Amino acid sequence: MKTILITGANGNLGAVTVRKFLDAGYKVIAIARSGSELGFASEYKNFELHQLDLADENAASSFITEAISLYGTIHGALFLAGGFAMGDVSKTSGTDLKKMISLNFETAFYLSKILFQHMLQNNYGRLVFIGARAPLKVEQGISAVAYTLSKSLLFTYTEILNAEAKGKNVTASMVVPGTIDTKSNRASMHNADYTKWVSPDAIANVMEFICSDKSLPLREAVYKVYGDA
Ligand SMILES: NC(=O)c1ccc[n+]([C@@H]2O[C@H](COP(=O)([O-])OP(=O)(O)OC[C@H]3O[C@@H](n4cnc5c(N)ncnc54)[C@H](OP(=O)(O)O)[C@@H]3O)[C@@H](O)[C@H]2O)c1
Repeated sequence: MKTILITGANGNLGAVTVRKFLDAGYKVIAIARSGSELGFASEYKNFELHQLDLADENAASSFITEAISLYGTIHGALFLAGGFAMGDVSKTSGTDLKKMISLNFETAFYLSKILFQHMLQNNYGRLVFIGARAPLKVEQGISAVAYTLSKSLLFTYTEILNAEAKGKNVTASMVVPGTIDTKSNRASMHNADYTKWVSPDAIANVMEFICSDKSLPLREAVYKVYGDA
């Protein structure tokens, strides 16, 4: 049984992804900060939930070091924790910028930097980061500058990890969702055409593929999961 760590587990994408990986037979180590969307998972023996502030470097480092010694091998990690904020460049303060970098980058960095060493030692590992379209189509980032910059760090970080892992069976992948069809997006964008959005389930399928042996030959992958948009 492969062991997978999932952050942002209680979120819109997280809860669906947890279910997908449990059903696929993984041992799931879920990390959430708050919330209660994971009640269904207590039925599964191969599920563990941990409360952790991923932006706290000391807490994140201690947690992952302990998890590695407890579970022996962690085969994959999906870094779903993150969030959005509006604000064009004129309205973006240093505080706004730091908040977004903490939310979208630090929450992935502190765990993954330690997990990456573990995976290199094992010569096996799959790290999956969740980007956004805006760093790839920057005109979409004009009204969300701090968000776009913070997500852009993940793209470069992924490339750095892949460069260091060359020749090893360790990969870092970027999954880039379009607008995800969630309750909160529907509530905030009443007039949008939801049929063009991508479902959390479709994104979870892509992540399951990345963590499966079917993706073994793939390297340096960026998966644009835009739905019909
Ligand atoms: N929704 C979209 O349309 C969309 C589009 C493109 C990309 N994305 C990206 O896709 C990912 C998932 O989106 P989503 O809609 O599922 O978001 P979500 O429902 O807001 O879930 C994100 C989760 O991350 C957790 N989190 C945030 N900071 C944390 C921290 N410091 N420590 C621990 N947990 C923390 C949140 O916990 P709390 O509830 O406690 O804050 C929340 O449960 C995010 O990275 C997002 O940026 C989303």
